[in-house]
Amino acid sequence: MDKWWKNSVVYQVYPRSFLDTNGDGIGDLNGIIEKLDYLKLLGVDAVWLSPVFKSPNDDNGYDISDYRDIMDEFGTMEDMERLFAEAEKRGIRIIIDIVANHTSDEHPWFQEAKKSRDNPYREYYVFRDNVDGKVPNSLESVFSGSAWEYQEETDSYYLHCFSKKQPDLNYENPKVLKEMIDIENFWIDKGAGGFRLDVIENIGKIPDEEIIVNGPRLHEYIHEMYKQAFSRKDLLVVGECWAADEQIGKLYSNPAREELSMIFQFEHIGLDEVEGEGKWSLKPLNLLDLKRILSKWQNAFHGDGWNSLFWNNHDLPRIVSRFGDDGTYRVESAKMLATLLHGMKGTPYIFQGEEIGMTNISLATIDEYEDIETLNMYREKIAEGWTDEKLMESIHAKSRDNARTPMQWTDGLNAGFTSGTPWFAVNPNYKQINVEAALRNPDSIFYHYQKLVRLRKEKKVLVDGDYRLLCADDPDIFAYARILDGQVVVVVCNFHGDAREVSVMDELAGLTGGRGEEYKILLSNYKDSGCDLSRLELRPYEAVMYELA
Ligand code: GLC
Ligand code: CA
Repeated sequence: MDKWWKNSVVYQVYPRSFLDTNGDGIGDLNGIIEKLDYLKLLGVDAVWLSPVFKSPNDDNGYDISDYRDIMDEFGTMEDMERLFAEAEKRGIRIIIDIVANHTSDEHPWFQEAKKSRDNPYREYYVFRDNVDGKVPNSLESVFSGSAWEYQEETDSYYLHCFSKKQPDLNYENPKVLKEMIDIENFWIDKGAGGFRLDVIENIGKIPDEEIIVNGPRLHEYIHEMYKQAFSRKDLLVVGECWAADEQIGKLYSNPAREELSMIFQFEHIGLDEVEGEGKWSLKPLNLLDLKRILSKWQNAFHGDGWNSLFWNNHDLPRIVSRFGDDGTYRVESAKMLATLLHGMKGTPYIFQGEEIGMTNISLATIDEYEDIETLNMYREKIAEGWTDEKLMESIHAKSRDNARTPMQWTDGLNAGFTSGTPWFAVNPNYKQINVEAALRNPDSIFYHYQKLVRLRKEKKVLVDGDYRLLCADDPDIFAYARILDGQVVVVVCNFHGDAREVSVMDELAGLTGGRGEEYKILLSNYKDSGCDLSRLELRPYEAVMYELA
C-alpha cells in the first residue's frame, strides 16, 4: 500500500491566531476542536499544529519549556487529548511540530546547564569560553546579532541560532538525541499522526567550525529518530530544510534511507529577494525563475524522494499579496496559485486563511508589530542608518506577521476570532474576506480549494503522474502536464493581469504520442474557459485544469 500522505492535503493551523473560545484574545485548542467540521468540509486529511507546548512565547511557541505539556493560553492536556479524539472521528490526523534544535532558556535543562560548568546538563547545550575577551566566533543569529550570548554565572557564551531565549541543543551529546526521541515517542503514544520538524537541518551543527546546517552527522541523527520513533507507526514526517538542494532532498526523503517522508524546501520562496541580500530585500518575481525552480524540484525525484507543495506558512507573507494580485484580481489570482500548486506532484499544504484568500497587512508603525524577527531586524537596521520608510516597506512585504493576523471567520466583531481584545491586529479587510462569506458563495476561493483537494483523491494521475513543463520560455504563462498510463492532466495558468494567448497542443501531442485533441475542463477560475489547446485565450490570472477526454 502506498503511503497515505501521498494523496493527502495538510492544513496548517497557527493556534494563536485560529480561534479564541474564552475571550482572552489568544486562539486555543478548543477553538481548533470547534472548527474541525470546517476543516472536514474543506476535505483535508491532516492538520499540522504549530507548537502547542509550554512556552514563554519569545518566539510564539518555538521556544519550548516543556515538550510534554500544553501552553497555558492554549488549554490543557485534556483538551489536547480531546482534539486527537475529535480529529480521529473525522478521519483527520494531527501533525505535531517538534522543535528539536533548541529549547527555551526557561526549559529545566537550560536552567540546570547554566548553573555551573560541571552541571550534568551542561553538555545538553553549546557553551564556549570567550576568545580574547570576545565571542567565540562570528556565527550570526537568524534573528540578528551574534549567535553567542554571554552567560554571567559561568563566565561563558552559549550558542543560539535564533533568539537568545532559544539556546541550541548539542547533538554531539547522545543524551540529547535520546531525549528528543523519547519526546517524539510520547506524542506518538498520545496519537500524533506525524511530525513537522522545525529547522531540523541545524541539529548536526559543528559550531567550532561555524557549520550549522547540513552538518556531517545530521542524517545519522535523523535515521536514529526514524528507527526508534517514526517507524513505529505510519506517520507523515516533514522536515523544515532551508538549505536543501535536490541531492540533499533525496538524502532526507528517499524511503530506502529511512529518514523523513518529505521536506519543506524554500527555493521558490526566495525568488523575490535580491540575490545575496537576504529576505528583506525586494524584487519582483520573474515567472521564468519560478518555472525553472519548481520544475527542477518536480523532476528531482523518481521514487527516491517526495516533495511537499506550499506557498504559505506562519513564517511567510501571504501568497496572494506576494505572487498574485490582492487588489482587483484577488479571487482569480488566489485560485490560479492554488491550481498551479495542487496540480503538481507532492503533498500540498494549505496555511490557515489561504483557502479564503487572506492577504498581507500593512500596519503603520513598527510598534504595532509582534514578531521577534521583524522587531530585531528593524532595531538593527535603524542603528545602521536605514530609514523607517524603507524598512516598513520591506516589513509590509515580507514580515512573518503577515501570516499571523487572526483568522477571519465572519464580518462581525474582530472577524469572529475573539470576543476580547485580539493579541494581534485583525486585517481590516475581514468585512469582505471571511469564512462565512466564502461558504455562502459557490464561486468562492474556499470551494475552489475544496475541489482541488477532492481531485487529488479522485485522479491517480495527480498523485503519481510524471510532470512535464510546457511552453518553458513563455514569460507569463505557467503550463504543465501530468501523465500516467494514458491519463493526462494539463494545467495552464496566466500569471499576468492582462489577457494572454498560448498554444500547448503541439508540445502536448509530442508527449502523449500524438493522441488527444479532445480535452475537457476539470476546473477553472472563470466561467466558459476555452477548450482548444492549440489556441487558448486566457483572461487575467485565468487558470484551467484539463483532462484528456
Ligand atoms: C522555524 C519556525 C520559525 C521559528 C524558527 C525557530 O523556522 O518555522 O517560526 O522562528 O524555526 O524555531
Ligand atoms: Ca483563548
